[in-house]
Amino acid sequence: TEFKIAVIPGDGIGVEVMEEALKVLSVLEEHEQNFVLHKENFEWSSDYYLEHGRMMPEDGLVTLQSYNAILFGAIGDARVPDDITIWELIMPIRKQFQQYVNFRPVKSLPGITSPLSNGDDIDFVIFRENAEGEYSNSGGRMFESQQSEMAIQNTIMTTAGIERIVKAACEYAEKNGKKKVTSATKSNAIIHSMKLWDEHVKRIVKNEYQNLILESIYIDALVAYFVQRPQSFEVVVASNLFGDILSDLGSGIVGGLGLSPSANINPEKQFPSMFEPVHGSAPDIAGKGIANPIAQIWSAALMLDHLGREDLSTKIINAIELVLLEGKIKTADIGGNATTAQMGSAISAKIIEQ
Ligand code: NAI
Ligand code: MG
Repeated sequence: TEFKIAVIPGDGIGVEVMEEALKVLSVLEEHEQNFVLHKENFEWSSDYYLEHGRMMPEDGLVTLQSYNAILFGAIGDARVPDDITIWELIMPIRKQFQQYVNFRPVKSLPGITSPLSNGDDIDFVIFRENAEGEYSNSGGRMFESQQSEMAIQNTIMTTAGIERIVKAACEYAEKNGKKKVTSATKSNAIIHSMKLWDEHVKRIVKNEYQNLILESIYIDALVAYFVQRPQSFEVVVASNLFGDILSDLGSGIVGGLGLSPSANINPEKQFPSMFEPVHGSAPDIAGKGIANPIAQIWSAALMLDHLGREDLSTKIINAIELVLLEGKIKTADIGGNATTAQMGSAISAKIIEQ
């Protein structure tokens, strides 16, 4: 199998952890018969913005469309406002390519201590709606005077948008032998959009997934349950904002951002999907070579799974778990002093050994 992969390292540690993901992929390519990646590097970043006044070329999305998948690092730089880096690069890709599923596994790993006293054996996934919802540019600000200003930020939810994310979550649950789907809501206070969400979630599960149990939990209680009984979740489905917050919390309870991958998926495979760590460009540690590359490497594994090479995806995840189990190579975020490159090399070595 051959795939065309667009690689966008981005800013800060994005560039550093991407190097390690590419190292691991190259090792796989060398050792597997019949597996070739045609990788193209795109230096769309804050530097690019400062030079060209935009985050990507005008035909950037057209260019990306011809790839099978996009492997993304992270963006964010003190010299460019965060809303520009996000709204001009990540958001257009997610929206244009209908990557309406943001998939984030939350899983305890060997040798990683959870900050929760009961943090063992956590294993669930979050399906975050990724194309509409609270993250919209609908609304505006009404300026009357310095003392009196008003801002309106609209949430956009549609039947079709809710339906497709809920179906994706339920399909995943059925395929992976999960029994329960948890929906995050707040329809007691957000009475238009979240009520629509609740009604359709309920309808779809009831009509089309009778084998699944649906529980609907208010987001404020749900964050407490994430901490108190994380083992009780199997598949969590949430709107864009709630899913964003839940997935960083999910990452926190299993050991941190350095370990958390994500996938922005277009399930119909009409357009390329994008795979990226949950974390950002981490300016506080950028340039030091100490970032944990596991989130990025695991994101590459999610990419191979999506491309139909579950066998190779599993190989990468096994290699990560073997390195963590041995516990000899650990980056600073998980209590060691290994470098980004040492971690990438250790995982590569485990791939060869398998
Ligand atoms: P961040 O995820 O970059 O960093 C939060 C904390 O986690 C920092 O202390 C950082 O050192 C640590 N951390 C993150 N990844 C790590 C890794 N792989 N290994 C070890 N430690 C790691 O989030 P923050 O600080 O809120 O944002 C920094 C910049 O990143 C901002 O410009 C923000 O807009 C951008 N950002 C970009 C995202 C993306 O590209 N998808 C996502 C989140 C933030
Ligand atoms: Mg986030």
